[in-house]
Amino acid sequence: MTNQWSVTRLQSALGAVVAGVDLSQSLSADAQIHLRALLDEHLVLVFPEQQLLPGRHVEIGEVFGEPYVHPFLESIAEHDAILRVAKEPEDETVFGGEFWHADITFRNPPSSVSLLYAIDVPAGPCGDTLFANQFAAFDRLSSGMQSMLEGLEAVHVYPDMAECEATAAVHPVVRTHPRSGRKALFVNAAFVHRFVGWTVEESRPLLAQLEAHQTRPEFQGRVAWSNNQLTVWDNRAVLHYAMNDYPGQRRVLQRVTVMERTAT
Ligand code: SIN
Repeated sequence: MTNQWSVTRLQSALGAVVAGVDLSQSLSADAQIHLRALLDEHLVLVFPEQQLLPGRHVEIGEVFGEPYVHPFLESIAEHDAILRVAKEPEDETVFGGEFWHADITFRNPPSSVSLLYAIDVPAGPCGDTLFANQFAAFDRLSSGMQSMLEGLEAVHVYPDMAECEATAAVHPVVRTHPRSGRKALFVNAAFVHRFVGWTVEESRPLLAQLEAHQTRPEFQGRVAWSNNQLTVWDNRAVLHYAMNDYPGQRRVLQRVTVMERTAT
């Protein structure tokens, strides 16, 4: 019954809050198509007040791709495709570090979508997640820079891992989204090691310049959290950054990331 869904845009750059949907119930084929179309349009979707058991969280992920079992990070006991994203009161760093990034770009195909579900988050205003629209980032480059970047590929690796087949993937720096056909910048400071044919040292200045551009305030949106909220984002279209502004408090969420299938 997608006509009961109410969609409210979050910010000009990206994002929408979707109310009137109960994701604990299975979605019809039409509802799944509508969900994917909403994500294509808004890039980040926020679903407040959802009651999701681990199995159902993964099933919603399957609407967008193939659930990924992380090779290096520990999954929760109930499901091997769900990561615990947690910061305890005594911890200083956040899960994933203080980097703008997209999830699991060091595989080929890369991830399509991540679905983060809030279990126990601090009462705000803190612990938000920032997003940056990479279609807008590409569109706002000069045509000369766009052409230069379109000729480049980047090597994505899991941090601190040697480049080897299991942990490295090569992706174009400007990637065409398989669903919308739009061009996005597809590099991120967490996983890109170097450009193909360039040394690591040669790659660093351009990567830093791109990161400054990719994360300009105009391209950003911001998601605040409440317990039982599910936020879904398209890793091919946005970068994200977890704010570390809640010292001494606990923040626990669970993440499913799914990998690209043809046309999802
Ligand atoms: C992540 O990087 O996947 C987690 C984002 C967050 O904790 O807000």
